[in-house]
Amino acid sequence: MDQTRSRSRSGHDGSHCLRRDALTRAETKGSRKRALRLFNVHVVLLGTAAGGGFPQWNCWCPTCRVGRTAPHRAPKRSQSSTAVSVDGERWFLLNASPDVHHQLDCLPGPIPSGIRHVSVEGIVVTDAELDHTLGIVLLREARRLQLYATLAVRRILERDSRIIPVTQAFARVEVTDMVLDEPIPLRYRDGSESTLSILPFNVPAGPPRFALENTIGHTVGLILRDEATGGSCAYVPGCRDLDQSLLERLGGTDLLLFDGTFWTDDELISLGIGDRRAREMDHQPISGPDGSLPRLAGLSRPTKVYTHINNTNPMLVEGSLEREQVERAGVVVGHDGMSFSL
Ligand code: MLT
Ligand code: MN
Ligand code: ZN
Repeated sequence: MDQTRSRSRSGHDGSHCLRRDALTRAETKGSRKRALRLFNVHVVLLGTAAGGGFPQWNCWCPTCRVGRTAPHRAPKRSQSSTAVSVDGERWFLLNASPDVHHQLDCLPGPIPSGIRHVSVEGIVVTDAELDHTLGIVLLREARRLQLYATLAVRRILERDSRIIPVTQAFARVEVTDMVLDEPIPLRYRDGSESTLSILPFNVPAGPPRFALENTIGHTVGLILRDEATGGSCAYVPGCRDLDQSLLERLGGTDLLLFDGTFWTDDELISLGIGDRRAREMDHQPISGPDGSLPRLAGLSRPTKVYTHINNTNPMLVEGSLEREQVERAGVVVGHDGMSFSL
């Protein structure tokens, strides 16, 4: 991520099972035979970098330098997005990044038998930022896409970035409005309900810099719940302040994927890259007494994972003091391909 003055079926290392498996009835496709099988929700971190990716194409900051010269110490990361599925075949994306094509190639699951195959059943967006929404237009060949967005996000995508109308020139885009604090079921493209629901909630942040209005709902966090297993996952890739009420909400989930953009508030300033603080860019820094790390460390229930990590963040380097500090606090630095089951 940068700041201007104006303002594979491979790669799956680290799989984490968060809950005991629930035995669920599932229908075997093809034979139409009903069978008992182990049933989990798969959560795959498709991309864990903030806007620009890691290393960022035009950046030679100390961390990007390590990423290029010693990639085993700081592996490449694509821009943040997460995929969830209950059957390992049909996926819902939480945000659609500009790296979505490569990311979909990394999804686990069987090799499709048809000529055209769309593994994405729906896209749920937390905001209208470019790193979270440019992937929508890149999926236009699907011909039909389902998008879940708040009204505020939908308006920015329609009027300001024009991502919805541009995609609609190629594909039918069915938008389902999400209402703050109301859970909504996720449906497959054939209209049937999955066992998943999404609850959007407001988080402290400003709108994208190209948005013409600042309307409530422009930036949300999501709580994904699976009614079959009772498992839940919170996704909050952008948040300026982890206040007490937010902490309480997030503390009741099994898996928490949280904003790990900046290590310090003056990260870009001290590198001479920009003149705005992390909080002015709507990201709570990780370190320091007011950082997200001590607050997350106090949550006992969820597995806590940082994602949406900016290329300047020193915790990207394995073995760094910053990485050790995060791990000592019981928080995981997410990486591309990391997977969890709820
Ligand atoms: C952000 O996370 O603050 C935005 O995505 C801005 C950016 O990527 O440049
Ligand atoms: Mn971003
Ligand atoms: Zn950099």
